[in-house]
Amino acid sequence: MNSAPLFLDKVQEICRDIDQARSLEDLYGNLIHCLAKISDAAQPVSAFMTLVEYCGAGNTFQVARGTGRYAAMAGTILHDAAILENLSSAIRSLENHYSRDAVTFCFPHPENLAILVYVEMAREIDADQQKLLAFVNDKVVSSIRTHSLAKQSARTGRAMVIALASLAEHKDQDTGEHILRVAIMTDEIVQVLQELGHYPDKITPEFESYVSTASILHDVGKVAIPDSILKKPGKLEAEERKTVETHTEKGMKVLEKASRILDGNNYLLSLSSEIALHHHEHYNGQGYPVRLAGLEIPLSARIVGVVDVFDALTSARPYKKAWPEEEAVKYIRDQAGIQFDPLVVEAFLKVMEYRQGVALIHWTEALSVKVSCMDNDHRVLIDLINQLASAEKIGNRRIAESVLDELINYTIDHFNREEQFLQETGYPLAELVAHKLQHASFTETIQDIRWQYLHGFRPKINMEVLLFLRDWLSKHILVEDMKYAVLQGQARCRSERAGTSSILKRHPA
Ligand SMILES: [Fe+2]
Ligand SMILES: [Fe+2]
Ligand SMILES: [Fe+2]
Repeated sequence: MNSAPLFLDKVQEICRDIDQARSLEDLYGNLIHCLAKISDAAQPVSAFMTLVEYCGAGNTFQVARGTGRYAAMAGTILHDAAILENLSSAIRSLENHYSRDAVTFCFPHPENLAILVYVEMAREIDADQQKLLAFVNDKVVSSIRTHSLAKQSARTGRAMVIALASLAEHKDQDTGEHILRVAIMTDEIVQVLQELGHYPDKITPEFESYVSTASILHDVGKVAIPDSILKKPGKLEAEERKTVETHTEKGMKVLEKASRILDGNNYLLSLSSEIALHHHEHYNGQGYPVRLAGLEIPLSARIVGVVDVFDALTSARPYKKAWPEEEAVKYIRDQAGIQFDPLVVEAFLKVMEYRQGVALIHWTEALSVKVSCMDNDHRVLIDLINQLASAEKIGNRRIAESVLDELINYTIDHFNREEQFLQETGYPLAELVAHKLQHASFTETIQDIRWQYLHGFRPKINMEVLLFLRDWLSKHILVEDMKYAVLQGQARCRSERAGTSSILKRHPA
């Protein structure tokens, strides 16, 4: 019997499978199983995938995913000489490599990387079959390119939105953290509303994908409010309050104008504009600017309304202290049906429960380095690690990506602030260099983790990663950062003796 038509059927089936992948994660998650279909070896076919940098010499090959006898080898380095020879030949030629008992597929990937998939065979692939497999390679490479571009373009859009919103945010509070915290919690509430079966007709896949990014722009209208009012310490006069309230209409107008460029057909912009206009409406109709009530208020704005208030209450401002979390949660609970949509409040409470349930680390006085701004930074980092654990528990990849982005951004900002602080306070040079090296190595590790996660090579932010983050941070604070707490103490003693307090004046603890 001629086996060629049979093989052609397999190749067509593999190409169909590849076409069906909805994302890079989806593609890589199924790639070994798709390609293993060419094998006549016993089921389950033994196959694995590895990612290699092809500019580097002396590559090591680590199993990313495996099946059959490689199923339990994810994360391990390969040492089998015959297999290594096959992999090296594929990477040298950047083409598939065929041996008597295996096919090594090679898919070049942007950024000087290649994905190799090694499939054990019961019989050798002949020359005609090799030509057919070239179609499979084209299909996989073009699918990788398409999904990478789509991902890149979505992330570029979000990054531009963050940059734009940060400008408005800087006018108000000097930081861009508020908008990102709002975006993350908005996403979490949407996910939980879905779990609870609330508003199924409103939470479409499009709504789910865009509402978090749209929420980032809720206060964009604040760019048009004079600094003399926005930054005024103390209570605002009635007229001034009215001016601040116009940030809702001003934001909506800017976003509507942008939307007209796209003939009003852009879902993200229309969602952003309804959130900007209505996020201060109250469920009982007593909010502003339109005084909509109940379900007349768009769902997006009802969600952002809750998140925005919770985040504002739990954040310190020049004119007020941060509320303890329990008090802020109680306020939101008490306002269900008054200021807020009761179903959104129900979802909010569940999100808080999730976060509490999976918290890996809690801030305690033992972690204090006695410098209030650094303590605050460390608290935020601890929160972000807990939020990452919560995102994984909820099982939402998009939320985990946002938290990971924020964790990396905040870590880099914190390290910069801390290093500058150490320099200014006369931290011994050798210690400073060692401290900076620790920061740099941690930054590199988390950036690697994010890269692998974003590109679909890391299926989960698993417990191993979460524990690594928790342990690194707590150990670093207790061992390295605590050294400057000790120096602060010594400086305080010296300056008290000398009647000055140079360090403490610059950085009030
Ligand atoms: Fe606002
Ligand atoms: Fe540090
Ligand atoms: Fe630190």
